Amino acid sequence: MGVFVSTDDPGPAGHEQVVFCQDRQSGLKAIIGIYSTALGPALGGTRFYPYASEEAALADVLDLSRGMAYKNALAGLDLGGGKAVIWGDPDQVKSESLLRAYGRFVQSLGGRYYTACDVGTYVADMDVIARETRYVTGRSVEHGGAGDSSVLTAWGVFQGMRAAAEHVWGSPSLRGRRVGVAGLGKVGRHLTGHLVDDGAEVVATDVDPRALEWARTNHPGVALVADTSALVAADIDVYAPCALGGALNDDSVPALRARVVAGAANNQLAHPGIEKLLADRGILYAPDYVVNAGGVIQVADEIEGFNFDRAKLRATRIFDTTRQILRLADEEGVPPAVAADRLAERRMADVGRLRAIHLG
Ligand SMILES: NC(=O)c1ccc[n+]([C@@H]2O[C@H](COP(=O)([O-])OP(=O)(O)OC[C@H]3O[C@@H](n4cnc5c(N)ncnc54)[C@H](O)[C@@H]3O)[C@@H](O)[C@H]2O)c1
Repeated sequence: MGVFVSTDDPGPAGHEQVVFCQDRQSGLKAIIGIYSTALGPALGGTRFYPYASEEAALADVLDLSRGMAYKNALAGLDLGGGKAVIWGDPDQVKSESLLRAYGRFVQSLGGRYYTACDVGTYVADMDVIARETRYVTGRSVEHGGAGDSSVLTAWGVFQGMRAAAEHVWGSPSLRGRRVGVAGLGKVGRHLTGHLVDDGAEVVATDVDPRALEWARTNHPGVALVADTSALVAADIDVYAPCALGGALNDDSVPALRARVVAGAANNQLAHPGIEKLLADRGILYAPDYVVNAGGVIQVADEIEGFNFDRAKLRATRIFDTTRQILRLADEEGVPPAVAADRLAERRMADVGRLRAIHLG
Protein backbone atom coordinates (compact mmCIF):
# COMPACT_ATOMS: atom_id res chain seq x y z
CA MET A 1 0.00 0.00 0.00
CA GLY A 2 1.55 3.32 -1.02
CA VAL A 3 0.39 6.48 0.68
CA PHE A 4 1.42 10.06 0.25
CA VAL A 5 0.17 12.95 2.32
CA SER A 6 1.77 16.35 2.32
CA THR A 7 0.44 19.77 3.08
CA ASP A 8 3.10 21.54 0.99
CA ASP A 9 2.73 19.37 -2.08
CA PRO A 10 -0.80 17.98 -2.05
CA GLY A 11 -0.11 15.54 -4.88
CA PRO A 12 -1.82 15.14 -8.25
CA ALA A 13 -4.72 17.51 -8.90
CA GLY A 14 -4.60 18.75 -5.30
CA HIS A 15 -5.60 15.52 -3.60
CA GLU A 16 -4.90 15.02 0.09
CA GLN A 17 -4.18 11.33 -0.17
CA VAL A 18 -4.13 8.58 -2.77
CA VAL A 19 -3.89 5.01 -1.55
CA PHE A 20 -2.89 2.06 -3.73
CA CYS A 21 -4.21 -1.25 -2.38
CA GLN A 22 -3.16 -4.71 -3.50
CA ASP A 23 -3.96 -8.23 -2.35
CA ARG A 24 -2.36 -10.66 -4.78
CA GLN A 25 -4.20 -13.78 -3.67
CA SER A 26 -7.70 -12.41 -4.17
CA GLY A 27 -6.57 -10.34 -7.17
CA LEU A 28 -7.54 -7.03 -5.56
CA LYS A 29 -6.04 -3.94 -7.16
CA ALA A 30 -7.71 -0.78 -5.92
CA ILE A 31 -6.97 2.92 -5.65
CA ILE A 32 -8.68 5.13 -3.08
CA GLY A 33 -8.58 8.85 -3.83
CA ILE A 34 -9.25 11.34 -1.05
CA TYR A 35 -9.54 14.78 -2.57
CA SER A 36 -10.59 16.68 0.53
CA THR A 37 -11.57 16.06 4.13
CA ALA A 38 -12.04 19.78 4.80
CA LEU A 39 -15.74 19.29 5.57
CA GLY A 40 -15.49 15.83 7.13
CA PRO A 41 -14.68 12.25 6.15
CA ALA A 42 -14.47 11.78 2.38
CA LEU A 43 -17.54 10.01 0.95
CA GLY A 44 -17.80 8.49 -2.50
CA GLY A 45 -18.58 5.17 -4.13
CA THR A 46 -16.36 2.36 -5.34
CA ARG A 47 -16.27 1.86 -9.11
CA PHE A 48 -15.43 -1.71 -10.18
CA TYR A 49 -14.31 -1.50 -13.79
CA PRO A 50 -11.91 -3.22 -16.23
CA TYR A 51 -9.69 -0.20 -16.91
CA ALA A 52 -7.27 -0.51 -19.82
CA SER A 53 -4.33 0.48 -17.59
CA GLU A 54 -3.37 1.56 -14.08
CA GLU A 55 -2.95 5.11 -15.43
CA ALA A 56 -6.56 5.08 -16.65
CA ALA A 57 -7.78 3.82 -13.25
CA LEU A 58 -5.75 6.51 -11.47
CA ALA A 59 -7.01 9.28 -13.76
CA ASP A 60 -10.60 8.19 -13.16
CA VAL A 61 -10.31 8.01 -9.37
CA LEU A 62 -8.64 11.43 -9.21
CA ASP A 63 -11.35 12.96 -11.36
CA LEU A 64 -14.23 11.27 -9.56
CA SER A 65 -12.98 11.99 -6.02
CA ARG A 66 -12.56 15.67 -6.82
CA GLY A 67 -16.09 15.73 -8.21
CA MET A 68 -17.44 14.18 -5.00
CA ALA A 69 -15.85 16.92 -2.88
CA TYR A 70 -17.74 19.56 -4.86
CA LYS A 71 -20.98 17.58 -4.88
CA ASN A 72 -20.90 16.86 -1.13
CA ALA A 73 -20.00 20.48 -0.34
CA LEU A 74 -23.01 21.84 -2.24
CA ALA A 75 -25.30 19.12 -0.89
CA GLY A 76 -24.69 20.77 2.50
CA LEU A 77 -23.13 17.60 3.92
CA ASP A 78 -20.47 17.50 6.61
CA LEU A 79 -18.51 15.22 4.34
CA GLY A 80 -15.50 15.62 2.11
CA GLY A 81 -14.90 14.07 -1.28
CA GLY A 82 -13.38 10.73 -2.13
CA LYS A 83 -13.85 7.82 -4.47
CA ALA A 84 -12.31 4.45 -5.08
CA VAL A 85 -11.76 2.25 -8.11
CA ILE A 86 -11.21 -1.47 -8.19
CA TRP A 87 -9.32 -2.32 -11.35
CA GLY A 88 -10.73 -5.51 -12.93
CA ASP A 89 -13.74 -7.07 -14.56
CA PRO A 90 -16.33 -7.55 -11.82
CA ASP A 91 -17.85 -10.52 -13.67
CA GLN A 92 -14.49 -12.30 -13.64
CA VAL A 93 -12.79 -11.35 -10.38
CA LYS A 94 -15.38 -10.17 -7.85
CA SER A 95 -15.35 -12.51 -4.86
CA GLU A 96 -15.98 -12.48 -1.11
CA SER A 97 -12.24 -12.45 -0.37
CA LEU A 98 -11.54 -9.63 -2.82
CA LEU A 99 -14.34 -7.43 -1.41
CA ARG A 100 -13.31 -8.20 2.18
CA ALA A 101 -9.66 -7.43 1.40
CA TYR A 102 -10.84 -4.13 -0.01
CA GLY A 103 -12.95 -3.55 3.14
CA ARG A 104 -9.85 -3.96 5.29
CA PHE A 105 -8.02 -1.28 3.30
CA VAL A 106 -11.00 1.05 3.78
CA GLN A 107 -10.95 0.27 7.53
CA SER A 108 -7.21 0.95 7.66
CA LEU A 109 -7.90 4.59 6.80
CA GLY A 110 -9.63 4.92 10.17
CA GLY A 111 -12.71 6.75 8.88
CA ARG A 112 -11.05 9.25 6.56
CA TYR A 113 -12.96 7.59 3.71
CA TYR A 114 -16.51 6.17 3.56
CA THR A 115 -17.34 3.99 0.60
CA ALA A 116 -20.66 3.27 -1.19
CA CYS A 117 -21.96 1.80 -4.47
CA ASP A 118 -20.98 2.99 -7.92
CA VAL A 119 -20.75 1.45 -11.39
CA GLY A 120 -20.04 -2.27 -10.92
CA THR A 121 -20.79 -2.43 -7.18
CA TYR A 122 -24.13 -3.08 -5.51
CA VAL A 123 -25.76 -3.02 -2.06
CA ALA A 124 -24.99 -6.73 -1.63
CA ASP A 125 -21.28 -5.93 -2.18
CA MET A 126 -21.46 -3.18 0.46
CA ASP A 127 -22.84 -5.75 2.91
CA VAL A 128 -19.79 -7.95 2.25
CA ILE A 129 -17.35 -5.02 2.55
CA ALA A 130 -19.08 -4.07 5.82
CA ARG A 131 -17.91 -7.34 7.37
CA GLU A 132 -14.44 -5.76 7.46
CA THR A 133 -15.13 -2.06 7.88
CA ARG A 134 -17.67 0.18 9.49
CA TYR A 135 -16.93 2.96 6.99
CA VAL A 136 -19.41 1.85 4.37
CA THR A 137 -22.85 3.10 3.44
CA GLY A 138 -25.40 2.34 0.70
CA ARG A 139 -26.18 -1.00 2.37
CA SER A 140 -29.20 -3.27 2.01
CA VAL A 141 -32.42 -2.41 3.83
CA GLU A 142 -32.06 -5.47 6.09
CA HIS A 143 -28.71 -4.03 7.27
CA GLY A 144 -30.10 -0.58 7.98
CA GLY A 145 -29.54 0.67 4.46
CA ALA A 146 -31.69 3.17 2.67
CA GLY A 147 -32.47 1.16 -0.46
CA ASP A 148 -32.77 2.55 -4.00
CA SER A 149 -31.20 6.02 -4.17
CA SER A 150 -32.97 6.92 -7.41
CA VAL A 151 -36.07 7.98 -5.45
CA LEU A 152 -34.37 10.97 -3.82
CA THR A 153 -32.13 11.60 -6.82
CA ALA A 154 -35.24 12.17 -8.93
CA TRP A 155 -36.80 14.32 -6.20
CA GLY A 156 -33.67 16.48 -6.08
CA VAL A 157 -33.52 16.82 -9.88
CA PHE A 158 -37.16 17.93 -9.82
CA GLN A 159 -36.32 20.56 -7.19
CA GLY A 160 -33.35 21.84 -9.20
CA MET A 161 -35.52 22.00 -12.31
CA ARG A 162 -38.16 24.00 -10.41
CA ALA A 163 -35.52 26.52 -9.30
CA ALA A 164 -34.28 26.85 -12.90
CA ALA A 165 -37.87 27.32 -14.13
CA GLU A 166 -38.39 30.06 -11.54
CA HIS A 167 -35.20 31.78 -12.69
CA VAL A 168 -36.25 31.77 -16.34
CA TRP A 169 -40.05 32.10 -16.21
CA GLY A 170 -40.67 33.62 -12.77
CA SER A 171 -42.56 30.62 -11.39
CA PRO A 172 -41.19 27.29 -10.16
CA SER A 173 -44.16 25.40 -11.51
CA LEU A 174 -43.62 23.14 -14.52
CA ARG A 175 -47.33 23.23 -15.35
CA GLY A 176 -47.80 23.53 -19.08
CA ARG A 177 -44.06 23.26 -19.79
CA ARG A 178 -42.82 20.62 -22.22
CA VAL A 179 -40.07 18.62 -20.55
CA GLY A 180 -37.88 16.20 -22.54
CA VAL A 181 -36.64 13.26 -20.49
CA ALA A 182 -33.76 11.32 -22.11
CA GLY A 183 -33.56 7.97 -20.35
CA LEU A 184 -36.49 6.33 -18.60
CA GLY A 185 -34.39 4.32 -16.17
CA LYS A 186 -34.65 4.36 -12.39
CA VAL A 187 -34.29 8.13 -12.04
CA GLY A 188 -36.07 9.07 -15.29
CA ARG A 189 -39.18 7.14 -14.26
CA HIS A 190 -39.51 8.80 -10.86
CA LEU A 191 -38.81 12.18 -12.42
CA THR A 192 -41.52 11.61 -15.03
CA GLY A 193 -43.98 10.94 -12.21
CA HIS A 194 -43.13 14.23 -10.46
CA LEU A 195 -43.42 16.15 -13.72
CA VAL A 196 -46.77 14.64 -14.63
CA ASP A 197 -48.05 15.37 -11.10
CA ASP A 198 -46.94 18.99 -11.51
CA GLY A 199 -48.87 19.33 -14.77
CA ALA A 200 -45.94 19.25 -17.20
CA GLU A 201 -46.15 17.68 -20.67
CA VAL A 202 -43.47 15.02 -20.86
CA VAL A 203 -41.70 13.97 -24.06
CA ALA A 204 -39.33 11.05 -23.57
CA THR A 205 -37.00 8.55 -25.19
CA ASP A 206 -35.03 5.46 -24.24
CA VAL A 207 -33.03 2.85 -26.13
CA ASP A 208 -34.63 0.05 -24.12
CA PRO A 209 -38.07 -1.05 -25.40
CA ARG A 210 -39.01 -2.12 -21.83
CA ALA A 211 -38.61 1.48 -20.67
CA LEU A 212 -40.90 2.67 -23.47
CA GLU A 213 -43.43 0.02 -22.51
CA TRP A 214 -43.29 1.25 -18.90
CA ALA A 215 -44.17 4.76 -20.11
CA ARG A 216 -47.05 3.55 -22.31
CA THR A 217 -48.51 1.57 -19.41
CA ASN A 218 -47.97 4.01 -16.55
CA HIS A 219 -48.13 7.40 -18.27
CA PRO A 220 -50.03 7.08 -21.56
CA GLY A 221 -49.94 10.89 -21.89
CA VAL A 222 -46.15 10.89 -22.28
CA ALA A 223 -45.12 11.45 -25.92
CA LEU A 224 -42.35 9.10 -27.04
CA VAL A 225 -39.78 10.05 -29.68
CA ALA A 226 -37.32 7.85 -31.60
CA ASP A 227 -34.04 8.88 -30.00
CA THR A 228 -32.13 11.56 -28.11
CA SER A 229 -31.41 13.56 -31.28
CA ALA A 230 -35.15 13.79 -31.95
CA LEU A 231 -35.75 14.83 -28.35
CA VAL A 232 -33.08 17.55 -28.47
CA ALA A 233 -34.57 18.93 -31.70
CA ALA A 234 -38.15 18.75 -30.37
CA ASP A 235 -40.11 21.79 -29.27
CA ILE A 236 -39.35 21.42 -25.56
CA ASP A 237 -38.88 23.98 -22.77
CA VAL A 238 -36.70 21.84 -20.51
CA TYR A 239 -34.21 19.10 -21.37
CA ALA A 240 -33.54 16.48 -18.69
CA PRO A 241 -30.61 14.17 -19.58
CA CYS A 242 -31.14 11.06 -17.44
CA ALA A 243 -29.11 8.46 -19.34
CA LEU A 244 -25.36 8.68 -19.94
CA GLY A 245 -22.70 11.38 -19.52
CA GLY A 246 -21.67 13.77 -22.30
CA ALA A 247 -25.27 14.63 -23.25
CA LEU A 248 -24.32 18.28 -23.76
CA ASN A 249 -21.81 18.32 -26.60
CA ASP A 250 -20.88 20.11 -29.83
CA ASP A 251 -23.74 18.39 -31.68
CA SER A 252 -26.56 18.55 -29.14
CA VAL A 253 -26.12 22.09 -27.77
CA PRO A 254 -26.45 23.91 -31.15
CA ALA A 255 -29.55 21.81 -31.91
CA LEU A 256 -31.19 22.21 -28.51
CA ARG A 257 -34.46 24.17 -28.43
CA ALA A 258 -35.01 24.06 -24.65
CA ARG A 259 -34.39 27.13 -22.47
CA VAL A 260 -33.44 25.03 -19.43
CA VAL A 261 -31.30 21.92 -18.91
CA ALA A 262 -31.72 20.02 -15.63
CA GLY A 263 -31.20 16.29 -15.43
CA ALA A 264 -29.77 13.41 -13.42
CA ALA A 265 -26.94 12.19 -15.63
CA ASN A 266 -23.41 12.67 -14.29
CA ASN A 267 -20.83 14.62 -16.31
CA GLN A 268 -23.31 16.10 -18.78
CA LEU A 269 -20.82 18.64 -20.17
CA ALA A 270 -18.81 16.72 -22.79
CA HIS A 271 -15.78 19.02 -22.47
CA PRO A 272 -14.76 22.33 -20.89
CA GLY A 273 -16.27 25.22 -22.83
CA ILE A 274 -19.69 23.63 -23.35
CA GLU A 275 -21.04 25.60 -20.37
CA LYS A 276 -20.09 28.78 -22.25
CA LEU A 277 -21.74 27.54 -25.45
CA LEU A 278 -24.96 26.94 -23.48
CA ALA A 279 -24.79 30.41 -21.93
CA ASP A 280 -24.16 32.02 -25.34
CA ARG A 281 -27.29 30.33 -26.69
CA GLY A 282 -29.32 31.62 -23.72
CA ILE A 283 -29.83 28.11 -22.32
CA LEU A 284 -29.85 27.91 -18.52
CA TYR A 285 -27.90 24.87 -17.33
CA ALA A 286 -28.59 23.70 -13.79
CA PRO A 287 -25.26 21.98 -12.97
CA ASP A 288 -25.58 18.18 -12.92
CA TYR A 289 -23.71 17.56 -9.68
CA VAL A 290 -25.90 20.07 -7.85
CA VAL A 291 -29.29 18.76 -8.97
CA ASN A 292 -28.43 15.04 -8.85
CA ALA A 293 -27.13 15.10 -5.25
CA GLY A 294 -30.26 13.44 -3.83
CA GLY A 295 -28.59 10.03 -4.08
CA VAL A 296 -25.52 11.00 -2.08
CA ILE A 297 -27.74 12.83 0.41
CA GLN A 298 -29.56 9.53 0.90
CA VAL A 299 -26.45 7.39 1.44
CA ALA A 300 -24.93 10.07 3.68
CA ASP A 301 -28.07 10.03 5.83
CA GLU A 302 -27.59 6.30 6.33
CA ILE A 303 -24.38 7.03 8.27
CA GLU A 304 -26.58 8.66 10.96
CA GLY A 305 -29.19 5.86 10.82
CA PHE A 306 -31.46 6.29 7.83
CA ASN A 307 -34.50 8.54 8.19
CA PHE A 308 -36.36 9.01 4.90
CA ASP A 309 -38.17 12.21 5.90
CA ARG A 310 -34.95 13.89 7.03
CA ALA A 311 -33.15 12.83 3.84
CA LYS A 312 -36.04 14.03 1.69
CA LEU A 313 -35.98 17.40 3.45
CA ARG A 314 -32.28 17.70 2.67
CA ALA A 315 -32.90 16.75 -0.97
CA THR A 316 -35.67 19.35 -1.13
CA ARG A 317 -33.06 22.01 -0.30
CA ILE A 318 -31.54 21.39 -3.73
CA PHE A 319 -34.16 23.95 -4.80
CA ASP A 320 -32.53 26.64 -2.61
CA THR A 321 -28.99 25.71 -3.59
CA THR A 322 -29.80 25.79 -7.31
CA ARG A 323 -31.53 29.14 -6.90
CA GLN A 324 -28.49 30.52 -5.04
CA ILE A 325 -26.12 29.29 -7.78
CA LEU A 326 -28.21 30.78 -10.57
CA ARG A 327 -28.30 34.15 -8.78
CA LEU A 328 -24.56 34.04 -8.12
CA ALA A 329 -23.96 33.24 -11.79
CA ASP A 330 -25.90 36.37 -12.78
CA GLU A 331 -24.14 38.53 -10.18
CA GLU A 332 -20.67 37.37 -11.13
CA GLY A 333 -21.37 37.17 -14.87
CA VAL A 334 -20.29 33.53 -15.18
CA PRO A 335 -22.06 30.34 -16.35
CA PRO A 336 -23.89 28.45 -13.54
CA ALA A 337 -21.33 25.61 -13.74
CA VAL A 338 -18.58 28.08 -12.78
CA ALA A 339 -20.75 29.64 -10.06
CA ALA A 340 -21.42 26.19 -8.58
CA ASP A 341 -17.70 25.41 -8.42
CA ARG A 342 -17.03 28.76 -6.76
CA LEU A 343 -19.74 28.20 -4.14
CA ALA A 344 -18.43 24.72 -3.37
CA GLU A 345 -14.86 26.03 -3.04
CA ARG A 346 -16.06 28.82 -0.72
CA ARG A 347 -17.83 26.36 1.57
CA MET A 348 -14.80 24.05 1.66
CA ALA A 349 -12.55 27.03 2.49
CA ASP A 350 -14.88 28.86 4.93
CA VAL A 351 -16.06 25.84 6.88
CA GLY A 352 -12.95 23.74 6.37
CA ARG A 353 -10.76 26.42 7.96
CA LEU A 354 -12.71 26.06 11.25
CA ARG A 355 -10.84 22.82 11.89
CA ALA A 356 -7.90 24.99 12.87
CA ILE A 357 -9.83 26.09 16.00
CA HIS A 358 -8.37 23.76 18.60
CA LEU A 359 -10.92 21.79 20.61
CA GLY A 360 -8.53 20.50 23.24
N1 LIG B 1 -29.53 6.38 -9.45
C1 LIG B 1 -29.03 7.41 -8.76
O1 LIG B 1 -29.28 7.56 -7.57
C2 LIG B 1 -28.19 8.45 -9.47
C3 LIG B 1 -27.58 9.45 -8.69
C4 LIG B 1 -26.82 10.45 -9.32
C5 LIG B 1 -26.65 10.39 -10.70
N2 LIG B 1 -27.23 9.38 -11.42
C6 LIG B 1 -27.03 9.37 -12.88
O2 LIG B 1 -28.28 9.49 -13.52
C7 LIG B 1 -28.29 8.74 -14.73
C8 LIG B 1 -29.45 7.75 -14.71
O3 LIG B 1 -29.29 6.90 -13.58
P1 LIG B 1 -30.27 5.66 -13.36
O4 LIG B 1 -29.97 5.15 -12.00
O5 LIG B 1 -31.66 6.04 -13.73
O6 LIG B 1 -29.69 4.64 -14.43
P2 LIG B 1 -30.49 3.50 -15.22
O7 LIG B 1 -29.44 2.61 -15.77
O8 LIG B 1 -31.57 2.91 -14.36
O9 LIG B 1 -31.24 4.29 -16.39
C9 LIG B 1 -30.59 4.79 -17.52
C10 LIG B 1 -31.59 4.69 -18.67
O10 LIG B 1 -31.03 5.35 -19.80
C11 LIG B 1 -31.30 4.55 -20.94
N3 LIG B 1 -30.34 4.90 -21.99
C12 LIG B 1 -29.06 4.46 -22.13
N4 LIG B 1 -28.52 5.01 -23.25
C13 LIG B 1 -29.46 5.78 -23.81
C14 LIG B 1 -29.49 6.62 -24.96
N5 LIG B 1 -28.44 6.73 -25.76
N6 LIG B 1 -30.64 7.27 -25.22
C15 LIG B 1 -31.72 7.15 -24.41
N7 LIG B 1 -31.75 6.39 -23.31
C16 LIG B 1 -30.64 5.72 -23.01
C17 LIG B 1 -31.22 3.12 -20.44
O11 LIG B 1 -31.89 2.23 -21.32
C18 LIG B 1 -31.89 3.25 -19.08
O12 LIG B 1 -33.29 3.04 -19.15
C19 LIG B 1 -26.90 8.10 -14.84
O13 LIG B 1 -26.07 8.96 -15.59
C20 LIG B 1 -26.43 8.08 -13.40
O14 LIG B 1 -25.01 8.11 -13.31
C21 LIG B 1 -28.00 8.42 -10.84
